[in-house]
Amino acid sequence: MAVVNGIATSVALPNKPVETLNFTNGKNKASRDVAWYQPELKKIPETAKQIFQNYSKISDGEIFNHIYRVRDEAWEILPYACVGCFRFLDFPASLSPAYPEVLERVRAGETLLDMGCGLGQDIRKCIYDGAPPDNLIGVDVEPRFHDLGYELFKDRETLKARLVTGDVFDDDFLEEFRGKIDIIFVGSFLHLFTYEQQVKIMAHMTKLLRNRKGSMIFGRHMATAQTGGIFNANAIGWSIYYHSPETINQLLGSSSEGKWDVETKLIPYSTASAVVEKGMTWQGSDDVKQMYFSAKKL
Ligand SMILES: C[S@@+](CC[C@H](N)C(=O)[O-])C[C@H]1O[C@@H](n2cnc3c(N)ncnc32)[C@H](O)[C@@H]1O
Repeated sequence: MAVVNGIATSVALPNKPVETLNFTNGKNKASRDVAWYQPELKKIPETAKQIFQNYSKISDGEIFNHIYRVRDEAWEILPYACVGCFRFLDFPASLSPAYPEVLERVRAGETLLDMGCGLGQDIRKCIYDGAPPDNLIGVDVEPRFHDLGYELFKDRETLKARLVTGDVFDDDFLEEFRGKIDIIFVGSFLHLFTYEQQVKIMAHMTKLLRNRKGSMIFGRHMATAQTGGIFNANAIGWSIYYHSPETINQLLGSSSEGKWDVETKLIPYSTASAVVEKGMTWQGSDDVKQMYFSAKKL
């Protein structure tokens, strides 16, 4: 069994995580004195550098301070590890083995929904790689992340992709898009929730996707090479569900409609921005991995 920080517990979270989740372990403001808040970037990952230079037109001399300012505003909203460790600069969708196919399909006209898009970096990366913005939708429960995304990428006036505010647990979540989505990306999203909540998310994703062969869900999240299914409350200042290939297959299988061809890849926990000052060992032992997965409807 994978155990991080010595505790493996299962708790039921409320359905409105942003408003009600006790995300700071009892404090009402996020401390920066935690290992998953890295004060500085050692380097800017190459993809991020290209996008800030060529898409956002930010000069080399400004990039670091620009990132720090937006990152620190995001940290004040919700102190996610992916914010504190600059993991949003990974542009995680593009690191997925499924990305070349996803990009080809979106460029050919299919629609991509980024679920829990945060700062919307993956939407910008798709556009940078030639995807038509009209085919891209980002949804997040926290509208301030959409705002910060516009600031981060300096495209408030120009972004044509749709950024929508919505709570995946609402019954009428993205009603207008039901049956119209070809591909859903879930980046560092499923692992925020208990398995029971993920089953509800899966039901919503099934409704959103076109009911046809090839409809796809792909993403990345925390995982374990051991038996998955551990919901670790406050493991890293946050509650995290650790998937294994078995549990992700089980989750996809909970969908009432059709079967899925599922591929998973486990790799060590890492970040493209190589912020190793305090190391990544706070994630736990080597049992803790990250998983890229993709699932296509058969
Ligand atoms: C850990 S961040 C991941 C952001 C981005 N996908 C990435 O990979 O960097 C999780 C995101 O999910 C959003 N979120 C949390 N609960 C949500 C909900 N119930 N409905 C929609 N979005 C939610 C958060 O606001 C946050 O932006």
